[in-house]
Amino acid sequence: MGRKLAEILARRGANLCLLARDRAKLEQVRAELAGSRVETSVCDVSDPAAVEAAFQDLASRTGAPEVLINCAGVLTEGLFEDQALEEFHRLMNINYFGTLYCIRAALPFFQAKGGGRIVNIASSGGLLGAFGYAAYCPSKFAVVGLTEVLRAELKPQNIILHLVCPGEFNSPMVEGITEGRTPENQAVVHTIPVLSADEVARAVIAGVEKGQYLIIPGLMTKLTIGLGRTLPFVGRAMVDAKIGKCYRGPKK
Ligand SMILES: NC(=O)c1ccc[n+]([C@@H]2O[C@H](COP(=O)([O-])OP(=O)(O)OC[C@H]3O[C@@H](n4cnc5c(N)ncnc54)[C@H](OP(=O)(O)O)[C@@H]3O)[C@@H](O)[C@H]2O)c1
Repeated sequence: MGRKLAEILARRGANLCLLARDRAKLEQVRAELAGSRVETSVCDVSDPAAVEAAFQDLASRTGAPEVLINCAGVLTEGLFEDQALEEFHRLMNINYFGTLYCIRAALPFFQAKGGGRIVNIASSGGLLGAFGYAAYCPSKFAVVGLTEVLRAELKPQNIILHLVCPGEFNSPMVEGITEGRTPENQAVVHTIPVLSADEVARAVIAGVEKGQYLIIPGLMTKLTIGLGRTLPFVGRAMVDAKIGKCYRGPKK
């Protein structure tokens, strides 16, 4: 999705700074966006010192950032009892603390300029728990919680927060879990049509342009989250019925 967001923003004339761990992939995106101003930095967002250094370096090359989009994320799927403790820490470190470190690094630039914009890509799994996502959902719930607090805290400083909660969309992240996915997870998650990364990225930009705080791409995802939040007992009963049909029993 980060790549799709970069494509849309480059077409609109934005100067872009892209951070990720894989230099080759970053360079490939930069080549695809030839003609636009694109700076890259190899950076693991779960390393606070590396994030701070990357932001200082990029700002010295391009000027202070005006918009921060926190899109880096990782996903694992599996039963709670099957996942190693390290996985819970890894997902929290990248999905939650990575977001937090980038905000801390960008904030002084926004404050010096008198404003800015932060777009946090959480997930529908940050608002509703889903079978098989014991490591992922809590990391996204944490992103939602941080965004809720910062929306209120930073608004008086003219720093605007956006919270993005997509359902599943096609990407390498999802391809990575598809093979070993539990049937219960498929039954629950695939109730909602899977979008393309491009559809989600376009919905994100449209939502930001309209000034929406909560951006939920896709009608079915909006309805599902709406039901889960307004009539949670109905949402839970529907989920339980789906899981009941394919549940394989506890681990032997
Ligand atoms: N796909 C979905 O169904 C879905 C649904 C809801 C929300 N989301 C969220 O949307 C965001 C984008 O997901 P996606 O589906 O586009 O996944 P993706 O294709 O796997 O892309 C994830 C990106 O995050 C970067 N990244 C991962 N760990 C990083 C780290 N430690 N430091 C810096 N960069 C890191 C990856 O680059 P490197 O590997 O090069 O570091 C990659 O560019 C994520 O936050 C995800 O949780 C996805």
